[in-house]
Amino acid sequence: MMPNLKETKEFLDNKFAGFKPEVAVIVGSGLGGIAGALAKPVTIPYAEIPNFPKSTVAGHAGEMVFGELAGKRVLVLSGRFHLYEGRSLEEVVFPVHVVDALGVKVLLVTNAAGGINPVFNPGDLMLIEDHINHLGVNPLIEFRENGEVKFLDMTQAYSSRLREKLDAAAEKAQLTLRRGVYLATTGPSYETPAEVKTFAWWGADAVGMSTVPEVILARYHNIEVAGISCITNLAAGISSKKLSHDEVLEVGKASQAKLAKLLGEFLSLL
Ligand code: HPA
Repeated sequence: MMPNLKETKEFLDNKFAGFKPEVAVIVGSGLGGIAGALAKPVTIPYAEIPNFPKSTVAGHAGEMVFGELAGKRVLVLSGRFHLYEGRSLEEVVFPVHVVDALGVKVLLVTNAAGGINPVFNPGDLMLIEDHINHLGVNPLIEFRENGEVKFLDMTQAYSSRLREKLDAAAEKAQLTLRRGVYLATTGPSYETPAEVKTFAWWGADAVGMSTVPEVILARYHNIEVAGISCITNLAAGISSKKLSHDEVLEVGKASQAKLAKLLGEFLSLL
């Protein structure tokens, strides 16, 4: 284990006092409120966690919340790190190393995304079936396993077992769950309409600025991954409306209750 990771794990083990999280949830822009669904919550600001990067983006609280939901011990990471903040990939994926070090075996990633698929509407939730890495970088570039480059299989990046559970959870919660492929760009500029058209040809249903590095690293650690995108807006050119971060946050916030309901049902099925 990396020496700085050991220190972080020891700090958190001490804070958790015997609480062993089973499921971790990384929440995206404007979606941090789902931590409010946890019973017996304990909050640790990222600023207090040794070696943890600090959050700087509006709409990202920057705290860990652990507690119980639907009988499961859950760790919510409210606030993530993005390449568009000028973060290194190492910082972006550090929380996933921590989640692994804590022994978590299931990770749910959520994000805000622009809808490319023409049937999507703002406020929809989309089950991520697969992703396209358009970041131009990969967190495993830095990694060596016994001195060797790790060529990681990504055919089942998003676990089919967990996708079935999310489908069943949506049915129980009486929510419509869209499904599709998430494409990640670095941002922070939104896409041009020409880029969105290209991404549609490539098979992308939604576009965002996160998630892919964390998912690659989670798969490296053999953590089972599920993902949900909150479609906060129609991607550039799909509608003629200008895109704004405020709107992304606003629609994200309005979707939190739906997401929390889905999460509760999902956890009860695990
Ligand atoms: N593009 C990229 N990232 C996003 C979008 C978008 O339209 N909406 C929310 N995050």
